[in-house]
Amino acid sequence: MKQRILTGDRPTGRLHLGHYVGSLANRVSLQEKYETFILIADVQALTDHFEHPEILRKNIREVVKDYLSVGIDPKTSTILLQSMVPEIAELSVYFLNLVTVARLQRNPTVKDEMQQKGFEQNLPAGFLVYPVHQAADITIFKADMVPVGKDQLPMIEQTVEIVRRFNALYGEVLIEPEAHVGEFPRLPGTDGQTKMSKTMGNAIYLSDDAKTVEAKVMKMYTDPTRLRSTDPGHLEGNPVFTYHDAFNADKEQVDELKERYVKGKVGDVEVKRILAKALNAFLDPIRERRLRFEGNEVEIDDILIEGTRRARLVAKETMDQVRRAMKLDYHLQAREQTKI
Ligand code: TRP
Repeated sequence: MKQRILTGDRPTGRLHLGHYVGSLANRVSLQEKYETFILIADVQALTDHFEHPEILRKNIREVVKDYLSVGIDPKTSTILLQSMVPEIAELSVYFLNLVTVARLQRNPTVKDEMQQKGFEQNLPAGFLVYPVHQAADITIFKADMVPVGKDQLPMIEQTVEIVRRFNALYGEVLIEPEAHVGEFPRLPGTDGQTKMSKTMGNAIYLSDDAKTVEAKVMKMYTDPTRLRSTDPGHLEGNPVFTYHDAFNADKEQVDELKERYVKGKVGDVEVKRILAKALNAFLDPIRERRLRFEGNEVEIDDILIEGTRRARLVAKETMDQVRRAMKLDYHLQAREQTKI
């Protein structure tokens, strides 16, 4: 039997190169070997977008298109919409008893986000507990492995703790998942910030056209200490070279550019021009695949409906086991069934 993978994304915007490097590439390469579930986390996205649910509505299909365009195959991978599997919410409620508030407040990713969003005294309870919801996402599908970006490691850690607690209390029902972080370190933003993100406005999207990519690259942050193209340049912390490493297929060209750059024998403009070309060469097949689904909303919806149906069968089976283990499989349910 194949081992199982679960991953997910919040549908708060289109996916970008950071998503590609951090997890999409990984998913594509693993989808044949593993039984893959990909969850569009609209319920989780509500924890900081509850005032603007229309944003999620608008982006769900875009995210599916992003998946298909990078080569996720809906025949082998199951793409599902979180809110259409209410069993996940049910499992989350049971899990909430197995986690302390103090432990949630110590989750480094949640801590960072809380600060970023400036919640302070007005922290929504739903936001604080989203890692518990995520533990339910992962365990309800009995995932063995979770391919994620590095910032998600605290979520997997917390999931493992919940699984251990659950299994110790109620019996061995759930599986401890393992995180699988991509080989490439986190992709910086075009502004040189450590993370590419939609909110920071420093992202290149999988769906950006060639002109947009070129414009973004030409404006990229490089080596701030370099005033003239004859000054020796620095590669470290220079996102232009990080992108070359990640996306330029011509490794010899990259090595040669690096050599000339540190010696002050090539200008930033030329290095960027070459990068824009390499990025567009990388994105072209992705754009082409995307084009096939553009304006084909029904096909996208069908993929999502079929994936969610398959996923829900698995989720229901796990919940039957969970209820039995927790002794919530009351005789009343059996009697009720015979009466309907
Ligand atoms: N928290 C993830 C993110 O912000 C999205 C997500 C939701 C997820 N549920 C998941 C990732 C389950 C992996 C597994 O990107």
